Amino acid sequence: MDRQTKMADDATVSAQEPFEDPRLVSTYADLTPQRVPGFFDLHRMALILLSEQAPQDARVLVLGAGGGLELKTFASERPNWTFVGVDPSRQMLGLAAITLGPLLDRVHLVEGYIEDAPSGRFDSATCLLTFHFLNRAERLQVLRQLRDRLKPGAPLVVAHHACPAGADSEEWLARSVVFAAGSEADPAKAVASAKAMMERLSILSDEEEVELLRQAGFAKPALFYAGYTFRGWVAYA
Ligand SMILES: C[S@@+](CC[C@H](N)C(=O)[O-])C[C@H]1O[C@@H](n2cnc3c(N)ncnc32)[C@H](O)[C@@H]1O
Repeated sequence: MDRQTKMADDATVSAQEPFEDPRLVSTYADLTPQRVPGFFDLHRMALILLSEQAPQDARVLVLGAGGGLELKTFASERPNWTFVGVDPSRQMLGLAAITLGPLLDRVHLVEGYIEDAPSGRFDSATCLLTFHFLNRAERLQVLRQLRDRLKPGAPLVVAHHACPAGADSEEWLARSVVFAAGSEADPAKAVASAKAMMERLSILSDEEEVELLRQAGFAKPALFYAGYTFRGWVAYA
């Protein structure tokens, strides 16, 4: 199956189901960095934002930590930090453990949802490539729970599919699909994939994203990363 067909296929199952699929999990670590513009730079940019006011021994909450790719970057670059990684998919947590190898010493992986994260105050938190699976009401609830677990003023970094304000989400999503498909890209197929993804994902505009962060009590929400529909914000508890 070509990458583009597979991406559309992945988008036709529900939010948690795809991450229980051994086929998706086995290719996740290789394919995701190719599909998301500036994937590793997103991690580096996030880390800079998380580091700005972090103590030497920062505790970081990583929600949607399956696969372990951002945890690997963070833990490699910050040897004194410790992490809690939360994800409902046992398979994706298994992959995270493999990805992390010896770095797992400083990472506590929790199978579950934000409610299952320890309630102690963290120095920062991230939620990457996950919020588009949650509808607006679910996101608001999760954002509030994230804020409750952060020290006052601590940064939250999120990045997921979203759409430039006033733009056509489907058209922008199709561009992301073409990017993801690489040399195999077929623009007509990309439009069909984007349509399927629109039905499964919750795509908000930049304005709605900022509004949601504010509604959850976060301050100074700001866009720091944008690659077609992959877009990232930092905001402060
Ligand atoms: C596309 S992966 C992103 C994984 C990782 N953050 C990354 O950037 O590579 C989405 C992850 O979100 C997890 N997930 C789905 N629903 C979730 C929820 N309600 N809370 C936390 N994680 C969730 C999935 O199990 C999956 O591991």
